[in-house]
Amino acid sequence: MKIRHAKVTDVKKMHKLVEFYADNKEMLHRSLNAIYENIQEYMVAEENGTIVGCGALHVSWDDLAEIKALAVAKTHMGKGIGRKLVTELEKNAVKLDIFTTFALSFKPEFFQKIGYDIISKEVLPQKIWSECINCHLFPDCGEVPLIKDLKHSKKKKK
Ligand SMILES: CC(C)(COP(=O)(O)OP(=O)(O)OC[C@H]1O[C@@H](n2cnc3c(N)ncnc32)[C@H](O)[C@@H]1OP(=O)(O)O)[C@@H](O)C(=O)NCCC(=O)NCCS
Repeated sequence: MKIRHAKVTDVKKMHKLVEFYADNKEMLHRSLNAIYENIQEYMVAEENGTIVGCGALHVSWDDLAEIKALAVAKTHMGKGIGRKLVTELEKNAVKLDIFTTFALSFKPEFFQKIGYDIISKEVLPQKIWSECINCHLFPDCGEVPLIKDLKHSKKKKK
């Protein structure tokens, strides 16, 4: 299994993965168009030529980026792929001189396991919440905001 930057040829497979969970209300929907337009933000987990996971890093501001669109195929859950994807996305953040990442997640327990802390909405810039107004789940989506300080976080939190 390898984690690599996504290519346009991965988009339909990533879309299928994300839509599977979005239909199940486990994450937000992403259009094919949104994935194509933001392809450079995405990384994939590939095993024997099959896409078994994906995730994206979206820069929000000068020291803040969001981990988003994270999904691991049902057949491959619980094997550390989600953690590896987030670790690679965090490395991409550091390469950009960004040392704080956050997530808005329906699975806060997963993010807590990998070193994220639950915060109150108000800690994040207004800009992030103002984007929520465009979401069909607004205002009661139930996503939990979590944040990680990449400079000072412990290697592993259990
Ligand atoms: C959430 C998700 C990305 C986790 O990916 P994964 O590859 O199964 O997770 P990992 O194997 O890397 O797990 C890392 C740690 O988190 C824990 N964990 C994973 N999912 C968890 C969950 N739903 N609740 C609590 N802990 C969880 C694992 O037990 C593991 O802990 P450990 O280090 O003590 O063994 C995956 O389950 C998924 O795609 N879910 C559906 C879509 C989704 O919910 N995306 C999240 C964005 S809202």
